[in-house]
Amino acid sequence: MSSILRIHDLVVSYGHIEAVKGISLDLQEGEITALVGANGAGKSTSLLAISGLLKPVSGQVILDNKDLTKLAAHKIVQSGVVQVAEGRAILTTLTVRENLELGAYTRKDKPQIVKDLAWVFALFPVLETRASGLAGNLSGGEQQMLAIARALMAKPRVLLLDEPSMGLAPLMVKEIFRVLKEINQTGLTILLVEQNVRQALKIARHGYVLENGKIVLADSGENLLHNPKVIEAYLGA
Ligand SMILES: Nc1ncnc2c1ncn2[C@@H]1O[C@H](COP(=O)(O)OP(=O)(O)OP(=O)(O)O)[C@@H](O)[C@H]1O
Ligand SMILES: [Mg+2]
Repeated sequence: MSSILRIHDLVVSYGHIEAVKGISLDLQEGEITALVGANGAGKSTSLLAISGLLKPVSGQVILDNKDLTKLAAHKIVQSGVVQVAEGRAILTTLTVRENLELGAYTRKDKPQIVKDLAWVFALFPVLETRASGLAGNLSGGEQQMLAIARALMAKPRVLLLDEPSMGLAPLMVKEIFRVLKEINQTGLTILLVEQNVRQALKIARHGYVLENGKIVLADSGENLLHNPKVIEAYLGA
């Protein structure tokens, strides 16, 4: 096992409110890592700082041996760390296909882009069916699929997801988790933030529990699922 993305002692503030208080994460290449915690724990803030959309006060984000911490957000995407757009911020007035093409806009490897488009259509057949339709006409779950597919078109080495199952019907939640597993099986490293703690820990090799901006538990997904503290706080009886 080798590390691909290391977050070292990351501190992130909003004004003088410190939301993330020195967290360290170690993502192993090809694995799903879950980051779970209650509302307001600092999960989204952590992801935004990793993807460069928020500048941390201190700490480092290191991909392989490259320090991404000071890079602009689009450079971080180009380096291979790609966050699935928040709130399914897809472009509703463009077609599904145009949204996917935009995901690949920084890439120059045309033949591989064509292959990747075929791959995301195979992962999400509904997107192929609706390719020429406006993205705004997709259902909430389909828009979430499009957001994930668009991020994949950027050819990430590490995919960051912030509550991809939020607000979706149970069948759609199941489908999203199935696809995440399938994407991971191609070797893609995933950092998954979820409120759906049970499902997230089930598919994650490793997990971290965040409370009030600090990591309070780090273990295998399996062990966390059986940890009495996790059961009490996040899984119910
Ligand atoms: N734009 C902001 N300005 C000021 N404070 C913020 C801002 N965004 C988040 N916070 C605060 O930072 C802390 C962490 O918020 P964050 O959104 O990262 O939590 P979260 O774990 O993603 O929660 P949730 O599960 O509700 O999405 C919270 O106390 C929140 O109120
Ligand atoms: Mg959040």
